[in-house]
Amino acid sequence: MPNFERTLITAALPYANGPLHIGHLAGCYLPADLYARFKRLDGKRVLFICGSDEHGVPITISADKENVSPQVIVDRFHALNKTSFERLGISFDYYARTTSPVHRETSQEFFLTLYRGGFLLPREEPQLYDEKAKMFLPDRYVEGTCPVCSNPNARGDQCENCGTYLNQTELIDPRSKVTGTKPVVRPAKHWYFALSRFQGPLERYIESHRGDWKDNVLQAARSWLKAGLQDRPITRDLSWGVPVPLEGAEGKVLYVWFDAPIGYISATKEAVPSEDWRTWWQNDATQWIAFLGKDNIVFHTILFPAMLSAHNEADGTHRYILPDNVPANEWMNLEGQKLSKSRGWTVELHEIIERYPADVIRYAFATMLPEQKDSDFAWKEFQARVNNELADIFGNFANRVLTFAKRNFENKIMGNRNELDTEGKALLSRFGEEANGIAQNYERFRLREAVMGTMDLARAANKYFNDAAPWQLIKEDKANAGAVIRSCLEALRALAVYFEPITPEASQKILKTLGHSFSEETWQNAHEPKLHGQTEIGDVEILFSKIEDETVAEEMKRLETMAEESARAAGNMGIGNVPLSTNGKISIDDFKKIELRTAKVLEAERVPKSKKLVKLQIAIGAEQRQIVAGIGQKYGPDDLVGKTIVVVANLEPATLMGHESNGMLLAVNDEHGVVALVTSETEAASGLEVR
Ligand code: MF3
Ligand code: ZN
Repeated sequence: MPNFERTLITAALPYANGPLHIGHLAGCYLPADLYARFKRLDGKRVLFICGSDEHGVPITISADKENVSPQVIVDRFHALNKTSFERLGISFDYYARTTSPVHRETSQEFFLTLYRGGFLLPREEPQLYDEKAKMFLPDRYVEGTCPVCSNPNARGDQCENCGTYLNQTELIDPRSKVTGTKPVVRPAKHWYFALSRFQGPLERYIESHRGDWKDNVLQAARSWLKAGLQDRPITRDLSWGVPVPLEGAEGKVLYVWFDAPIGYISATKEAVPSEDWRTWWQNDATQWIAFLGKDNIVFHTILFPAMLSAHNEADGTHRYILPDNVPANEWMNLEGQKLSKSRGWTVELHEIIERYPADVIRYAFATMLPEQKDSDFAWKEFQARVNNELADIFGNFANRVLTFAKRNFENKIMGNRNELDTEGKALLSRFGEEANGIAQNYERFRLREAVMGTMDLARAANKYFNDAAPWQLIKEDKANAGAVIRSCLEALRALAVYFEPITPEASQKILKTLGHSFSEETWQNAHEPKLHGQTEIGDVEILFSKIEDETVAEEMKRLETMAEESARAAGNMGIGNVPLSTNGKISIDDFKKIELRTAKVLEAERVPKSKKLVKLQIAIGAEQRQIVAGIGQKYGPDDLVGKTIVVVANLEPATLMGHESNGMLLAVNDEHGVVALVTSETEAASGLEVR
């Protein structure tokens, strides 16, 4: 590995469009922070950069929904997310925002350099135009039928049902999400980035990292290259974003994926004194590690490297570096299902940090990072990791040693740093060796292993304490017991250093109790005895409290409730006692749009982890389908099989707690939760129309 003088660590700038959840933490921000903290202990110069991505269409859509300006949305979530990161101990050196003036200037300059270099060319392409709203429609402002799978609600950029990436003009029966009208096709002028010119250089760049990048990252990058790189439009017709700095481009802004990664550069300009930013970005002795989640891989291995390369070609005097590594993670699921905000299946960071200390969250998630493949977060495992490892091994060692020293050695650190017993010396020199191995795991982005390896050190320390049995020894040979405790205190100090990337608060507390500071400590010298004799030992606190079974049960309940509430809000469970409609009458034709049919229940089972949801297989005439209904508190599977019920047969499919529901059964439900099915007296027939 080349000998770098400094390490630039970036973490993908999260959209300031909603609260962050545990998937973001495990996918990107915790790994980035573990690494940054390790590197600092390793004595490297580190700059750790992140910030809010405040542009992009999802933000303008949220703003439209609330009828506020996008600025209101980004102010809200920039503040919320920044605070969550701080409370979780994510140690960014700087947390920027892409609405800042420095960012606007930096992106516009970047654009102009590429433009002058001939890498940005205008082109007219057909695009959907809403005649009523008098605007071109960004991809996410159009919906229509997917040409591949016929999903009626495909978005203009992607069909979420079959995953196909779409061009908005490929949608069948497109509808504008702004006015609901059918848009027309009109030519629109945009600037295209000459991405195709970088096919060769990018292939060489990616392959030069075949030995050091993770497989999932190499594969994602290669599959894009294999498909062949196409020039891409990098301007949009929108008013929210960085204005395109060209004449004749009024009303256009830079595409969010063009300006957002430039945010790393503008953030650096804001973070360090004037021209220093160049040493971080345009100096080969800087190592740049870009942390991000799976869905951001191509932007950081293909698009942004191509933009930087184009800039390098256009500007002969300064050369940007490219990422040295992009250790992207896979997804983290939650209790066996995909995280989903809209389905209420999520745990948000600003909430979890209210309920557990940062260290506890950090440790548990660090053991479950989705590094090689998707991982699953389960509250039971969270509890087990915290109780059986963090509290019982590391926390317990700290507590036993400190309490013993206080009680038996006048509350002081006894002896001096050369007075360790032989076994104690061996323990510390083993720490020194193992720490090298752990460091290698950090360097290879095997952070889970690094974390487990660190816990193994605490295990070894506990074993040493048990084997030495100082509580026995002290009766026979107080001096020797003193040497053992001295060794234990040094081991505890060293553990505080090794655990600092994972549990920074606990590490600070331990060193404070020992009257010692981090300034003398590095990853390499942590195993060397350093404590000063006669130092008073401070108060001993329990470092990590255990998580009770009831707490786990509450978390499960909370999830279930949220999932049910979201399902209800999405209108898929037809529940609630509402006044008769006062919004006017509908015509018989309107009524006919709703296809009500009798259906026969063939099979029924409860949805695991849910009290209310039942999954039914039903027959509507010859057709068999699955629906999910919130009637489980009154009806068990046996009550349902064989009944003839009434269903809305032409309802859009929905997913409830991970199960597809293709239709909705009719039931009444009062505010006390009393449920009754609407059934039909028709015994045998199903599939009959209800009118
Ligand atoms: N905002 C994007 C997301 O949350 C990530 C942007 S990363 C950057 O998926 F490189 F563009 F900054
Ligand atoms: Zn599709």
